[in-house]
Amino acid sequence: MNIRQLLDDRITAALHTLGAPETVTAIVKPSARPEFGDYQANGIMAAAKQLKTNPRELATRLLATLDLSDVAEKVEIAGPGFINIHLKNGWLSESLTPPLIRGGREGFSSGGGASTIVIDYSGPNLAKEMHVGHLRSTIIGDAVARVLEFQGHKVIRQNHVGDWGTQFGMLIAHMVSIAEQNGGVSDVAPQLADLETFYREAKKRFDDEPDFANTARDFVVKLQSGDAECRAHWQQFIDISLHHCEAVYERLGVSLTRADVKPESAYNDDLANVVSDLQAKGLLVEDQGAQCAFLDEFKNKDGSITPIIVQKTGGGYLYATTDLAALRYRSSVLNVDRALYFTDARQALHFQQVFTLARKAGFVRDEISLEHMPFGNMLGEDGKPFKTRTGGTVKLVDLLAEAEERAFTLVTEKNPELPEDERRAIAHTVGIGAVKYADLSKNRNSDYIFNWETMLSFEGNTAPYLQYAYARIKSIFRKAGNPSPTLPLSGAGANISVQESAERTLAMKLLQFAEATDSVAKEGLPNHLCTYLYELAGNFMSFYEACPILKDGVAEDVRNSRLRLADLTAQTLQTGLGLLGIAVMERM
Ligand code: ARG
Repeated sequence: MNIRQLLDDRITAALHTLGAPETVTAIVKPSARPEFGDYQANGIMAAAKQLKTNPRELATRLLATLDLSDVAEKVEIAGPGFINIHLKNGWLSESLTPPLIRGGREGFSSGGGASTIVIDYSGPNLAKEMHVGHLRSTIIGDAVARVLEFQGHKVIRQNHVGDWGTQFGMLIAHMVSIAEQNGGVSDVAPQLADLETFYREAKKRFDDEPDFANTARDFVVKLQSGDAECRAHWQQFIDISLHHCEAVYERLGVSLTRADVKPESAYNDDLANVVSDLQAKGLLVEDQGAQCAFLDEFKNKDGSITPIIVQKTGGGYLYATTDLAALRYRSSVLNVDRALYFTDARQALHFQQVFTLARKAGFVRDEISLEHMPFGNMLGEDGKPFKTRTGGTVKLVDLLAEAEERAFTLVTEKNPELPEDERRAIAHTVGIGAVKYADLSKNRNSDYIFNWETMLSFEGNTAPYLQYAYARIKSIFRKAGNPSPTLPLSGAGANISVQESAERTLAMKLLQFAEATDSVAKEGLPNHLCTYLYELAGNFMSFYEACPILKDGVAEDVRNSRLRLADLTAQTLQTGLGLLGIAVMERM
């Protein structure tokens, strides 16, 4: 259930009964201050303008027709025509009582039914190992995929890895020459264990040795023409590189698998068709030997147009050509309703161009929604792009290893008595959770500064804080009885009864879970869910201080109601963090 949606639907309907045009909505939002109630409707002024009437007068007529008595104890007009809604404690209590609450934690909450959604994320270039530049796409895309799936949508993950292009000629040439040095033994797997070094060596030879460079160029041609031996080397390289990625995904707890890989090379056979179809539609012109689309939409201030190049002089295809083929496949074969792309903001123009061109060419169905979800850079402490101390790119495996090592030190300080393997396990969950959460909790549109101390802090909007809040609730249950009391699911004992103000605040927050997930689903902004979980944990801490649970003298029904609130908080933290791809622990 989404309270905001429920109120919005009902007030909007009432406005329409009063003659407001279809485009007018109630614009319901949570109230900024408690004296304004729990929610407020802000759309009355705009509606009055449309109806050419006085907003307060419209608000008065609205209250006469609107019946919210089942959910609200008070609905009042404020200021120039705001409507403030105070929800009933009884209704909050009921809504949290099973089986209702479980309905709210499963299945999709927003109306409109299930859609099919492609999520294009991670997409590393397989010529090298994954580095920090791939972290944001991988983490944010995965969280959004999980949220949409949780809501009941059909999610198709697409890992659009870069496995094609001239670099592979150079890499194959290096593989072949190592095999030859090994006396023809063709297994170069050991050298490929460190792809970064392998790439650097190949690049150096390409730059320094003309013969090697020529061989590399030959290999590109052979690869493209389907030469079997060349393909076999390439395939071996790709396999090993994908293994590297999978190791990173596994360590990160990212849900991508081999089945989600749909590489650039998968579209090879369609690239010539893409170009000829664009030509047939009159969308291309030849410019200095290249095939280009000049669309008015991309006119610059000086009147020139930034072209979309789909075929280079000499016949080679480009990144944009492959993306056009991918769009056609996603629309007509996967038949998706939405396609979301998580890449850094520098690719914004690229996506606007391919989306526009794909629509003009009729490569995608009109009703499909194409959404680039850009993100900013990950910066170092100095505000410059994140680098190693010596100025190199940071490999993702190294970053994750450091996260776990730092977390291990912290865990050891806090719990020196725990056996080492347990401390290692906690450190893994905390360290990886911290890195992911630090990224997810910021609005992805801006750059963010990577800082070990803040992300690993047990205070503030961090993963360790939320994981700790969860473990703390679990410890309440351990204290309450061993085995922990099973709360009745029905009958009088199952009821939650919201009385105290801290209980009310917590109850309200618990019921707003769907609002948070809906907003992630719509806008692709996981930071909304992070903020929600952080506030939930804060509300719980205040509740726990103000409302004793296990103290002597607390009546049994009050105790059970509070235990139920605590249990729901733990479940919500676990589910919410789970949607962000972050695990919790029973103790830490
Ligand atoms: N391989 C690309 C890169 O590293 C990202 C791929 C994004 N997806 C896409 N369909 N273009 O920048």
